[in-house]
Amino acid sequence: MKVIVQVCVLLAIAAVAYSASSTWGVRSVNDTIIVNKRVAYPAVRNAVQTVYFDVPESNQSNSKVISAIYLQDQFQNSSGPTNTLLYGGPGWTYASVQMKTQTGLGLNVTYVVYAN
Ligand SMILES: *[C@@H]1O[C@H](CO)[C@@H](O)[C@H](O)[C@H]1NC(C)=O
Ligand SMILES: *[C@@H]1O[C@H](CO)[C@@H](O)[C@H](O)[C@H]1NC(C)=O
Ligand SMILES: *[C@@H]1O[C@H](CO)[C@@H](O)[C@H](O)[C@H]1NC(C)=O
Ligand SMILES: *[C@@H]1O[C@H](CO)[C@@H](O)[C@H](O)[C@H]1NC(C)=O
Repeated sequence: MKVIVQVCVLLAIAAVAYSASSTWGVRSVNDTIIVNKRVAYPAVRNAVQTVYFDVPESNQSNSKVISAIYLQDQFQNSSGPTNTLLYGGPGWTYASVQMKTQTGLGLNVTYVVYAN
């Protein structure tokens, strides 16, 4: 039991460390896109920037259950942010994702959220 827990922790760490692009959940055929956005922030020298996005946005509402979130790094050279799903996500009607840039690099990502 302890071994299994440790393996899971290791996998979780590996997943976070590699996440220039991230995926949570799986879309299925009848899902619709409820969010499709690009966000870009210029680099700030020697600084790590922390950026969040929420589903739904604060001035909107959402009653559909999220099935998948695809976050795609547009740098495509492993310089993208480290992404963490803070709460919600697949199975919920809301989600909050944190993106942490690498030091001295900006951010250019697209994210697509599927729901049904
Ligand atoms: C998708 O929608 C079609 C038509 O409404 C339905 O026949 C099918 O069972 C649905 N598929 C899934 C996986 O829900
Ligand atoms: C909601 O807020 C976003 C960001 O502030 C803005 O771009 C968008 O137009 C707003 N949508 C509505 C329906 O007011
Ligand atoms: C973000 O990446 C896309 C695709 O690589 C590129 O076309 C776009 O100009 C970039 N945007 C910014 C603000 O760097
Ligand atoms: C990756 O691409 C971005 C945008 O083109 C650039 O700012 C960054 O320096 C690149 N990183 C590396 C390690 O080449």
